Amino acid sequence: MDSREFLGNLILLIVGGNDTTRNSISGGLLFMNQNPSELRKLRDSPMLVSSAVSVIIRYQTPIARMRRDASADFIIGAKQIRKGDKVVMWYISGNRDDEFIENTNSFVIDRKNVRQHLSFGFGVHRCVGRHLAELQPKILWEEMLNGRLNVKLVGEPCGSHQTVCAVIP
Ligand code: HEM
Repeated sequence: MDSREFLGNLILLIVGGNDTTRNSISGGLLFMNQNPSELRKLRDSPMLVSSAVSVIIRYQTPIARMRRDASADFIIGAKQIRKGDKVVMWYISGNRDDEFIENTNSFVIDRKNVRQHLSFGFGVHRCVGRHLAELQPKILWEEMLNGRLNVKLVGEPCGSHQTVCAVIP
């Protein structure tokens, strides 16, 4: 790699691994507060933590969309795409597609096929940090469950990605 490409990759790693996990972590706290029965389920069966993390990452969808420039003509659904067209891929929409995900708007931590979601993209560009992205909230939830740490929402989130929380001893 020349130094420009090296720096580009470095920035991609820093940016890609920052906002995303921050949002899935705060989003997870919000969803557990909104769905106390799911939090109880996790407390009663801590082995559900990996499943819960995948559900959180689908439900939150930290990156809502990405764009591609079409490299060739093709048809997707009934839509003709021409070479050079700019195509937006709405991961967040795919993640709520009820043709593929049953009861898509429900936050259920032990649902089936939890890893079948589009939050990490699809194909050759699929998120290179996805295993780390799953590991971070997994460790956090494990530590919270072990330490009986209870994080309670104390106000309404005031932005699409902001959660207001307080730690209750
Ligand atoms: C929940 C957390 C994360 C989510 C939802 C996420 C999501 C994504 C998505 C949607 C893409 C684009 C895929 C595409 O272009 O089709 C991507 C790419 C990428 N992600 Fe993540 N990401 C997360 C965490 C991380 C972490 C922790 C790192 C690294 C420390 C990381 C590094 C990258 C890099 C370097 C790319 C570019 C890969 C490429 O174009 O080949 N991501 N991520």
